[in-house]
Amino acid sequence: MAAKMKRIGVLTSGGDAPGMNAAVRAVVRTAYAYGLECVGIRRGWQGLITSDFTMMTRESVGHILSRGGTMLYTARSAEFMTEEGRMKAVATCKMLGIDGIVAIGGDGTFRGALELSRLGVPVVGVPATIDNDLGCTNYTIGFDTACNTAIDCIDRLRDTMQSHERCSVVEVMGRNAGFLALYVGIAVGATAVLVPEHELDFQKDVVEVIQASRLAGNTHFMIVVAEGAGSAVDIGKRIREAIGIDPRVTVLGHIQRGGSPNARDRETATRMGYYAVKAFAEGRGNCIIGTQEGGIVEIPIEEALTMRRHLQMDRYRIMEAMQVGGTLNRLDSFEQ
Ligand code: F6P
Repeated sequence: MAAKMKRIGVLTSGGDAPGMNAAVRAVVRTAYAYGLECVGIRRGWQGLITSDFTMMTRESVGHILSRGGTMLYTARSAEFMTEEGRMKAVATCKMLGIDGIVAIGGDGTFRGALELSRLGVPVVGVPATIDNDLGCTNYTIGFDTACNTAIDCIDRLRDTMQSHERCSVVEVMGRNAGFLALYVGIAVGATAVLVPEHELDFQKDVVEVIQASRLAGNTHFMIVVAEGAGSAVDIGKRIREAIGIDPRVTVLGHIQRGGSPNARDRETATRMGYYAVKAFAEGRGNCIIGTQEGGIVEIPIEEALTMRRHLQMDRYRIMEAMQVGGTLNRLDSFEQ
């Protein structure tokens, strides 16, 4: 990269995730520790187009470590997808004297980062999404807290399902990926977990599993559905038609994105934010900060965007092995 950096920008973009504030704090404080100034861009890439900014100081990020959401607001910008929009963003960087940007978000954020870097503004990405679906890192900020929030909700649901001897169908987020659903399903001891990576065989994966559980003496059932695997309302209807029981459907929705980040998300966000600024301070950029086997890695953005993260088959097998009468040979249609 060219001359030594003096001022960097930081923004959060896409769906928020618990721990984004911790990442913003780490970026700002590490910047000042390196003698760099830091500008907060509000509302993601859109804020860069409209020059929506605020100067950050060490103090301005006080008391946000434990708060959910993002103090910088977030957005998904359609204008940034256009060349005209991106040219305005470059002009804002010039006007504000921003030498590089730390962009905190998921794959949409990083696609924007790649486009901006091609126009000469260096970007470092910090992965934050409750979906944990990025190939360049084995962990994204917010996933663990979102899992725990969903687990807490489902534990409560189980209390009432157990009392009424009912079947519960719960839809969790995750966009096109089943990570959140599978981890949560294992952790709540779900009767069945439906994920987009596994082609649904309704008879085998739902009907027979509930029937086996019933035969074993269970009187309540918990079906966890990843939003990418279909609608919980539809699954509920199909269960009613096929088995004659009357399920209750709950869509957890955005509640999974809120709340105070837990230890893992605060620590990971702080570490990733620190390493993002360190990369800039040492003259590197245009990369994503990831974690692989516990260590921090820097992956070029372009390469990072081609990397795919596959749902771990072993975890799917483990979920199946936990089912009453579960067999371990239904993985033929598992997409890898
Ligand atoms: O990517 C994070 C996520 O929460 C997904 O799990 C979900 O599909 C999506 O964002 C929801 O987006 P929105 O906030 O636009 O409803």
